Amino acid sequence: MTAIHVNMSVNGLPTSIVTEASRTLLEVLREDLHLTGAKDACGGEGECGACTVLLNGVPVNSCMVMIGQIEGCKVETIEGLSEENKPDPIQTAFIDEGAIQCGYCTPGMVLASKALLDQNPNPDDDQIRVALAGNLCRCTGYTKIIAAVHRAAGDLKNGN
Ligand code: FES
Ligand code: FES
Repeated sequence: MTAIHVNMSVNGLPTSIVTEASRTLLEVLREDLHLTGAKDACGGEGECGACTVLLNGVPVNSCMVMIGQIEGCKVETIEGLSEENKPDPIQTAFIDEGAIQCGYCTPGMVLASKALLDQNPNPDDDQIRVALAGNLCRCTGYTKIIAAVHRAAGDLKNGN
């Protein structure tokens, strides 16, 4: 067992932890930092995307990232997306399009959508499918999720 010291930014806050090198970013976020928006829906096998967070703006499966890999990195979780009482337009679009059922996949879906829209403000259906290919949803059938990303793109363009 090896303890390591890791410095990172989490949702804009400088964060410093001492932990076992064998732990994942998902474990540290959920168990140490109490940021439980990122989920584990596949036993940490890297197959579901429910644990998606943004690492330096790129969506990653946080269950597959060892904590020692993120020294100096910028981590964004779903908790950092909304401002006080004001959901992000992507979150609002998911609600308005009915793109949420059980909600288990939703934090990861929203963050993967954010990463896409930050890079490509006007994606087509195929580009959305590719961007969300690592995020599985057992409930919605994906059609409403794709509609939500289109709606969010429009809302962001219009400054809503
Ligand atoms: Fe399923 Fe990370 S928990 S990919
Ligand atoms: Fe249930 Fe996506 S809404 S898994």
